[in-house]
Amino acid sequence: MAEKVTHRTQPPKQRAFLVGVSLRGKPQLLPLEESLAELARLAETAGLEVVGEATQRLDRPYPKTFVGPGKLEEIKALVEETEADIVLFDDELSPRHLRELENYFGQQVRILDRTALILDIFAQHAQTREGALQVELAQYEYRLPRLTRAWTHLARQTGGGGGRAGRMGGVGLRGPGERQLEVDRRDIRRRMAQLRKALEKVRAHRQRYRSRRRKNRLPVVALVGYTNAGKSTLLNRLTRADVYVADQLFATLDPTTRRVTLPNGYVALVTDTVGFIQKLPTSLVAAFRATLEEIAEADLLLHVIDITTPHAMAQAEAVLQTLEAIGAGHIPILTVLNKIDLLEDPARAQAALAAFPDAVAISALRGQGVPELLQAMADKLYATYRPVTVDLPYEQGGLIALFHEMGQIEAVQHHRGGVRIRGRLPLRVLARYAPFVVQQADDDAPRALEGEA
Ligand code: GTP
Repeated sequence: MAEKVTHRTQPPKQRAFLVGVSLRGKPQLLPLEESLAELARLAETAGLEVVGEATQRLDRPYPKTFVGPGKLEEIKALVEETEADIVLFDDELSPRHLRELENYFGQQVRILDRTALILDIFAQHAQTREGALQVELAQYEYRLPRLTRAWTHLARQTGGGGGRAGRMGGVGLRGPGERQLEVDRRDIRRRMAQLRKALEKVRAHRQRYRSRRRKNRLPVVALVGYTNAGKSTLLNRLTRADVYVADQLFATLDPTTRRVTLPNGYVALVTDTVGFIQKLPTSLVAAFRATLEEIAEADLLLHVIDITTPHAMAQAEAVLQTLEAIGAGHIPILTVLNKIDLLEDPARAQAALAAFPDAVAISALRGQGVPELLQAMADKLYATYRPVTVDLPYEQGGLIALFHEMGQIEAVQHHRGGVRIRGRLPLRVLARYAPFVVQQADDDAPRALEGEA
């Protein structure tokens, strides 16, 4: 069952003041207020308390301080009034912006941007060794050009590894002058080299494991969706696995794979993936290779959309764009509209559903629509199956086993020296059976079979 977990033991919460800018003429996925609301949730996920916000509309960011001088004064006054410890910008700040803003706000206030915050959350949530290494490396990549007084202590704190870098708790210690910065830069570069080596090793190991799995693999279904859409809840619902579910952004950072039995009796592997988000820095997306490879190799994607948010469309668009960007644009998608239990007004529900015509509507939490979803998954997955009859000699034990595992079997007839199997096989393994095919029909229609062997 879904379980609410607050798993951080923290010193008193740091207070964050948010700053958002909308740039005229630059199309944004989410309107400014929505983007700031998301930033506030990110801040809360990272354990911060949001104490206020300021916004500005600009043609372009000011080269020195990102926002204009008047706005800056206003923010400073508000920061003092609200006793904020952190000024958090919704957009990625350049190294120069960061330096200038730090000078402007002085030692007592720390300047952060969305990217640094997301990195921090990723660092707190990474569960596997590979995940932790990836985040630590991404953090250093982000920091190296931005190394200023505020960052040096963090760099030293995390030099020992473990990927738990950048915790908010350490704010206040400030590093010394330029000489120390140079030393820090060298240390960071050395640490980055170590991390890259360690990652290579972990990846080589995973690659071996993957290719073994791929050879005889079951169909893979990957859950994708905007952060907090309900992917982990759905995976739990489908499999009763106890995947970490929390009303927090990015609760899931490492792929979690489970076996799911479909209505036709066949088994698919369903894998949870990292939540997508707008303005997610591409370097970070790339850092999550483990998760993204799971997506790019899937046979089917379940795109989970939280139908109750007013920006479901924009979020869905952000996900589709990211899928394109990571080379997964070609994989068939089944759209899943989640949280229908929260849609009380039937007219609104109808309108929401009409916007996504081929989708299946469900409540991952309560279970509504889940049988229909499983059926739709089976139909989509097995749409690529072809009917075939093969005569396999007993020496071909591997192919016989593979048919049982991956195919849908209609009839099995043993005879001296071998076995004749009639059924359906996925296109991608059909070629391996070519020498043994007795009959191959050209029937495209997917069909659920009573698998009897
Ligand atoms: P990330 O890990 O950030 O990618 O999130 P996720 O997509 O895995 O979302 P998760 O399953 O963690 O769910 C986020 C929140 O939405 C949790 O509080 C869930 O309990 C809630 N939730 C998920 N599905 C439903 C649903 O069908 N109905 C309702 N009412 N709440 C849901």
